[in-house]
Amino acid sequence: MGTLIGVDYYPEHWPRERWEVDAKLMREMGVDMVRMAEFSWSALEPAEGEFNFGWLDEAVSLLAGYGIKSILGTPSAAAPEWIISENPEIQPVDYEGRIRYFGGRHHNCQSNQEYRKHIKRYVTAFAGHFAGNPDVIGWQIDNELGNSHKDLCMCPSCEGRFREWLKEKYGDIKTLNEKWGTTFWSQGYQDFSRIHAPKITVTGHNPSAVLDWKRFCSDLIVEFHQFQSAILRAAAPEKFITHNMMGFADKVNYFDLGEDIDFSSHDQYPVGHFHAVHNISRADRLAAELDLIRGTKNRSFWIMEQQSGISGWEVLGRAPKPGQLGLWATQSIAHGADAVVFFRWRACAMGTEQYWHGILPHSGAPGRYYEELKEFSNKIKPLLEELQGTVPKAKVAFVFSYDQLYAIDIQPHHPDMSYVSHLMVYYSAFFDRNIPVDFIQENADFSMYDLVVAPLQYIMTAKLGEKYKEYVRGGGSIVLTMRAGVKDDTNLCRTEAPLPACGLGELVGLEVHEYDCLRGIDNRVLWEGERYVCKKWCDIIRLAGARGLAVYDSEFYAGTPAITVNSYGEGTVYYVGTEPGKELAARLVEEFMSNRDLCSLGESPADVEIAHRRGDGKDYIFVINHTGDSKTVRIPEDWAPYYEEQSGEVKPFSTDVYIK
Ligand code: GAL
Ligand code: ZN
Repeated sequence: MGTLIGVDYYPEHWPRERWEVDAKLMREMGVDMVRMAEFSWSALEPAEGEFNFGWLDEAVSLLAGYGIKSILGTPSAAAPEWIISENPEIQPVDYEGRIRYFGGRHHNCQSNQEYRKHIKRYVTAFAGHFAGNPDVIGWQIDNELGNSHKDLCMCPSCEGRFREWLKEKYGDIKTLNEKWGTTFWSQGYQDFSRIHAPKITVTGHNPSAVLDWKRFCSDLIVEFHQFQSAILRAAAPEKFITHNMMGFADKVNYFDLGEDIDFSSHDQYPVGHFHAVHNISRADRLAAELDLIRGTKNRSFWIMEQQSGISGWEVLGRAPKPGQLGLWATQSIAHGADAVVFFRWRACAMGTEQYWHGILPHSGAPGRYYEELKEFSNKIKPLLEELQGTVPKAKVAFVFSYDQLYAIDIQPHHPDMSYVSHLMVYYSAFFDRNIPVDFIQENADFSMYDLVVAPLQYIMTAKLGEKYKEYVRGGGSIVLTMRAGVKDDTNLCRTEAPLPACGLGELVGLEVHEYDCLRGIDNRVLWEGERYVCKKWCDIIRLAGARGLAVYDSEFYAGTPAITVNSYGEGTVYYVGTEPGKELAARLVEEFMSNRDLCSLGESPADVEIAHRRGDGKDYIFVINHTGDSKTVRIPEDWAPYYEEQSGEVKPFSTDVYIK
């Protein structure tokens, strides 16, 4: 068997005598790998150049004695105090120009050359030491890159790198001034050396400058990863490198980061303390993040951290209910995870994460979470072994773009608008119909898909516009939404034509000369006699070849088109000029389905998800009950139960699996 079930383990937090007890318990639970050492710098290099790898060697070999392999992390997300003391300039500077001091983690700048020297020394020694150890199977670089304080770092070193990045991009300062539109408010620069990070200012920033800053920060993080991966690969070319990503987190473009790793990993925390309002992530949101992570490398992935108990830092979230830990893990598997590592093995007695509980409680005595995961692991492992490397087969693709995300984040238009929440309106509607979807980036091959959903195509380039047209001309169907073709790629408004500009008008067969931002109200659309709520924004549409499907129901533009369809070449283009409410999104998916077979996996009650992975000639179908009640699902005759005890009645927080 491969490595399928793991735990995040911190042996240095516990007495040496306990390790063996842990290893035995892990083995009984079905654990076959651990991740260690991603925050252990001071324990592994207590003073400059004095390496103390002995305890980790011992942990690796003790675990190996129980059949447990190790993944080791590089510790650059928590520089030890002695490094900070030697080079205090490593500490990051935030938006307000304040230093973020030592005392938590992520107290480091990613461009600082002195910090790079420390990392190089450490990672070279670390990689060299463990390279020949067959029980160490792979590496994780840093931890959740981009999960620093929200402004990342605006220190002089990062500003210097930003200037180099800009120079490389624009060549001369005159071009930068044009592309950033610095004539406005006298913002022209005479020289690259005068440009700073977009720190706190009196008014809003120049949107062009901020977009480039965000792109630069992402590139810097990717380069920071490459700097470490080069050392690890040179030392141990046969060991894998992965990274624990964070779903829709936006600080780093995960498609770019994906190019530097062997496979992606994701951290899944459905009821963390950070869910201030909703307490729990909805199943559709969890699913969407999993689909994105699979999309980053277009292949199966790992969960490197999954919540395994009640969790929080200063305040806590809800306790996972009986069955939920296994349910979340199964959902990840259903969306393409080849392995699930649970965070953390045991609740820690010290530090910021004392209440971010593990499988074992503080006392170390196995309880409910342990028993549940033991049962889960033993049940899932044979299936998971069969599933290795398989992925869902989707006919629908969502274009996911960090540029659009950044640009909408800079100017959300409506106070409640965000790129991800707009995209989620559509995703959820497909999710509710159990239609599998992929997330792809703009430069992906669209030809494998029958329907491409490209929400908020706000930043538009001639190349992308042409690509959309070509796809539709050749017979593809596409969904474009409000605010398409508004900006050029340096975030200046397009002026060459009415919206949607950049040639998209011809594709969608309409023009938008005016729009309304729905502050304090919703609107409705009227579609074949039915009324549906729409929100946040209304493009006021003039048809120029397209056919109206639905019209606005109120305001001065009542009766004008809100949703349109156009034939272009061999294909079909939908344009939705507003943000649909839930019912309207469902109606839209109905419309798309009437045009194309989008391969729904079946009908199910609310909050019962059907997902699948396609193996060699067969489909593994997961019926996932996200609710606390038993649910009945009509099972087609050609689905054979994978587990004997399945009856079509899916128990609370559990999953039935079928083969077709
Ligand atoms: C993750 C992180 C872990 C741990 C966990 C709980 O974001 O990767 O190191 O901090 O959250 O807070
Ligand atoms: Zn910095």
